[in-house]
Amino acid sequence: MVTTLDDKKRSAIAMKLADMRETQNLIISNDQLLLSQVDDREIRERLSDMLKDDQKNLSILETSIVQYGVKSEPRDITLKLVEQVEKMMQDSELSLYDKISQHELLKHQQAMTGIIIHKAAQVVGADIDAALAPMNTVNFENRAHQEQLKGIMEIVGTRELTGKDPDQGLWARVQDSVAALTGVFGSVVSRSKDMTVIDIVKMDHRKVDTLFTEIENTDSPQKAQEYFGQLYKDLSAHAEAEEQTWYPTLRKYDDSAPGVAQAYDEQAEAKILLEQIKTLSPSSPEFKTRINQLKNLIQEHVRKEESNLLDKLKDHMSDEQLVELGKEFQLAKSRIQDETSRTSSAV
Ligand SMILES: [Fe+2]
Ligand SMILES: [Fe+2]
Repeated sequence: MVTTLDDKKRSAIAMKLADMRETQNLIISNDQLLLSQVDDREIRERLSDMLKDDQKNLSILETSIVQYGVKSEPRDITLKLVEQVEKMMQDSELSLYDKISQHELLKHQQAMTGIIIHKAAQVVGADIDAALAPMNTVNFENRAHQEQLKGIMEIVGTRELTGKDPDQGLWARVQDSVAALTGVFGSVVSRSKDMTVIDIVKMDHRKVDTLFTEIENTDSPQKAQEYFGQLYKDLSAHAEAEEQTWYPTLRKYDDSAPGVAQAYDEQAEAKILLEQIKTLSPSSPEFKTRINQLKNLIQEHVRKEESNLLDKLKDHMSDEQLVELGKEFQLAKSRIQDETSRTSSAV
């Protein structure tokens, strides 16, 4: 049989993620526009903190999209909506209150989209949840920003109507709402620190672990096929990106490390197995046997990478260099994903 590795539900989530990235860019340009129109010192401080969070969250979103491994363009309607809001924000007829209120709506939409992606991920597969875990921070911060924007709206709105400030205690109330949200989102890992190549590679490894568990635990051949489709894409892009980035870097520093040469061989072996499994029916007994063989091979390979090779990078590189190499790894993976989706859609 010809195996197609496509999955509509995963593509639908990819489209929502692309919509979110588009909206995040709009949110950032709104932050900048509002900052240019506000004089109040306290409000300016809050807006500029939000801008910093939003910029950081855009990069988390971009990382998550690569980690997710399925890419999409945003919907046309999202692009239209972005254009409309941009126009509206430039409109001089609108008061500052109107503009902040529009911005708050956008934040609301963004927070809800993030939460819905999270819910959908739980339905479709635990591996998606693993890939999108960093987005918890984005969702939490968008909800917290919403509370702060409501506070700013109260001040600006009251001033526009009366020329006076609203009653005291407003920011304390905002603070309380944000604290209450922390309970809803649980312990949110702060991502203020940039991820190094070691963090990102390990995150990929955990996602692959989850995919193997999903394949083993499902009784449905269709589900097994979907999970394998994702595993195939993830492992191929991960291995190739390793061979383009940190493997050669490690070789440069430590050519005598026998582990690196072995790692190349193991990945070549895994690639052959992946191609074999791709031709098998997920309901055949051979599919299970081969998956098991692949799992053992990968687990051993990952164990060596994590206990020997990745640590060696630390002996030769500073934290900043490891972050830089992480970006290169991410970029290489993203490029490989794009090439793969182009060739598979051309077939
Ligand atoms: Fe790896
Ligand atoms: Fe590897």
